[in-house]
Amino acid sequence: MKIGLFGFGCVGQGLWKVLHETKGVKAEIGRICIKNAEKPRPLPAHFFTTNPDDILNDPDIDIVVELIDDAETAFRLVSAALKQGKSVVTANKKMIAHHLPELHALQQKTGASLLYEGACCASIPIIRNLEEYYDNDLLTSVEGIFNGTTNYILSKVFEENKTFDEALQLAQENGFAESDPRLDLEGFDPKYKLCILLLHAFGVFVEPEAVFHFGIHRLNAFDAEFARRRGGSLKLVARCYRQGDQVGAYCIPRFVPGNHRYASVRNEYNAVTLESAFSEQQVFVGKGAGDKPTGCAVLSDISALRYQYKYEYRKWQQNGSFFNTSDTELQLYVRYSTGASVADADFTEITERFMSGDTHYTIGRIPVRKLQRAAWLSDPRVSVVEIN
Ligand code: HSE
Repeated sequence: MKIGLFGFGCVGQGLWKVLHETKGVKAEIGRICIKNAEKPRPLPAHFFTTNPDDILNDPDIDIVVELIDDAETAFRLVSAALKQGKSVVTANKKMIAHHLPELHALQQKTGASLLYEGACCASIPIIRNLEEYYDNDLLTSVEGIFNGTTNYILSKVFEENKTFDEALQLAQENGFAESDPRLDLEGFDPKYKLCILLLHAFGVFVEPEAVFHFGIHRLNAFDAEFARRRGGSLKLVARCYRQGDQVGAYCIPRFVPGNHRYASVRNEYNAVTLESAFSEQQVFVGKGAGDKPTGCAVLSDISALRYQYKYEYRKWQQNGSFFNTSDTELQLYVRYSTGASVADADFTEITERFMSGDTHYTIGRIPVRKLQRAAWLSDPRVSVVEIN
């Protein structure tokens, strides 16, 4: 197998390393297309090109691996490769989440395979499991810690008393964060992964814009202390679930008691919990970010292409579900400063209030549909955490 690789950043170099350390997969990287020809590279110059056609039009290249960070350029390259009949492996969750219907249609039309295990929780083999192992079980929910950067930051804040800023810098130095770290911090990245899993778990195409998300960007030392006093910590949790024929999803920071299974999921590790009718609860834990863990998932997809593996999107074929999160209610801690106008009317029920100096919080139940429309949530003085 000859691979044409787009991008040679953290994950691209991770793939290079795992490909050369493994004995199992006989594949070679023939060409690497990069954006910046001036940047020093750890490989001889003959590997590199800045012209995508050197890969797309090379008949010797049968597999295209796309690992760049610009989602729209990635979509054009992946579409072009599929149209050329080349199989594609990508780890670009933003691109996939925004273009799932088109990418699905292109696979049907061209017969080429598109695999993206590395896009969801890096080293945890969740997509292929949902496709193959859980095709007959009645899944009721898929949730977990889907972002390594924010989990790393929260671990450093809770366990080593680092500030949020110090912890972010360390996550960036380790290559866990996106080039634009707001995608991690504000919860976009785990939401993209959630949209992909929604299709493989429940068979629904859901645009990222339809899913409520809130990240860890507003959390502060007071919120961390609130969680500590209650005997736990905070984790950014993404969740999708089925109720009857309706499917819902959201992503929000959650208070996790010290004895909860997520409490021991630390640093860049991710966790995925599946609930289903027959097998009940199962938890997968593994590294969710980093060069080799993500490179390893990409390698596993390359390996699967040796036997012409394709996603069958079986849940979509069986589907009778539709997406509607509106009726779900969350038990929330809403912390705000004087002057921020958190609307009491959005709460179905209020169980606790706190006021001291400039810091206030309200605990109560709010339907997700109200959160999706709440103007007060865009106020930088407001933060929210789900508590159970
Ligand atoms: N920035 C992502 C994360 C990389 O931290 O989880 C892996 O998808």
